[in-house]
Amino acid sequence: MADQYVQTPDGDVPAALPSLRWDEPPEGPVLALLDQTRLPSEEVELVCTDVPALVRAIQTLAVRGAPLLGIAGAYGVALAAARGYDVAEAASLLEGARPTAVNLGYGVRRAAAAYREALGKGASEQEAAAAALTAARELHREDAEASTRMAGHGLALLDELLPGGSHRLLTHCNTGRLVSGGEGTAFAVALAAHRAGRLRKLWVDETRPLLQGARLTAYEAAGSGMAYTLLTDNAAGSLFAAGEVDAVVIGADRIAADGSVANKVGSYPLAVLAKYHHVPFIVVAPTTTVDPQTANGASIVVEQRPGLEVTEVRGGMSVAPLGTRAYNPAFDVTPPELVTAIVTEEGAISPVTGDGIAELCARSRQVTIS
Ligand code: MRU
Repeated sequence: MADQYVQTPDGDVPAALPSLRWDEPPEGPVLALLDQTRLPSEEVELVCTDVPALVRAIQTLAVRGAPLLGIAGAYGVALAAARGYDVAEAASLLEGARPTAVNLGYGVRRAAAAYREALGKGASEQEAAAAALTAARELHREDAEASTRMAGHGLALLDELLPGGSHRLLTHCNTGRLVSGGEGTAFAVALAAHRAGRLRKLWVDETRPLLQGARLTAYEAAGSGMAYTLLTDNAAGSLFAAGEVDAVVIGADRIAADGSVANKVGSYPLAVLAKYHHVPFIVVAPTTTVDPQTANGASIVVEQRPGLEVTEVRGGMSVAPLGTRAYNPAFDVTPPELVTAIVTEEGAISPVTGDGIAELCARSRQVTIS
């Protein structure tokens, strides 16, 4: 059996389960994912015992968000190795599961390289599988540390840009604990502001069509006790016009060498609005999301998802006549001139330029993959 659901024990507080965990029951190692498609109404784990199950979980967005995709990809390689599957084939399946978040390929390649290197040094299959698992655990831990550092740099930047000290932030999609080894990227900055008593409000875009904002960010915001208000994506314009937004904070799936930012579809219109209304537009992402191999925004592959996600709402109810075709890109690309700053665990760059991106890459402690 490839997929298996496990109910949260009665009485658990929301989000008591980690977004992902490695487990070694007597039947063999598994990767247990907090199934994000079932949140916020149910908190259940999806237990993957093989790579095809994990690939399905990635494609259906049971596990999602750039940093967590990288971590899941690395554990996926470890799972294949530990269960004696072909690691090169597993790595290729995992890397191809979704095209836009660069972290996925990075995590997969890092664990696969650790496995190959161990074999190259004469290790047994079992020892090489252990090396892949160590690489996944290291990436997981590094991402948690990066979260903490991004939160600190992001809050410092907000305080510098918005001296009033009572920030009304707008965010899009979901960038918190659910997508990270730690407290996330953009959401971690909002959380740091909240803890420091400097967050007046988090505006949460619902994020059509899969509602990562309404289902997941509102869930995380509610759990943190911060003041937040949900809005439909198309209400953002009137919110800016009313002067209710002090800064936009979002995450990223891939940052190209010229500073172009791919993130959840709907980010680019927010950047245009922010520019028009003279509001800072801040991208928060670990350096594992920066991809110097992708020259510019036009070279970023944007995942196109099934039209049914637009023509139907959750539960499969149609909201358009049968046979209606839908345009459903999962991401859009914001050009660097619309981005006020990019905040990483290595600090922030502003303005966003190719030189700044190169400097961030030079500062990055990211493991080089041979
Ligand atoms: O399609 P998703 O839900 O995986 O998209 C996620 C996003 O676009 C996030 O904003 C991005 O991965 C940054 S997460 C820290």
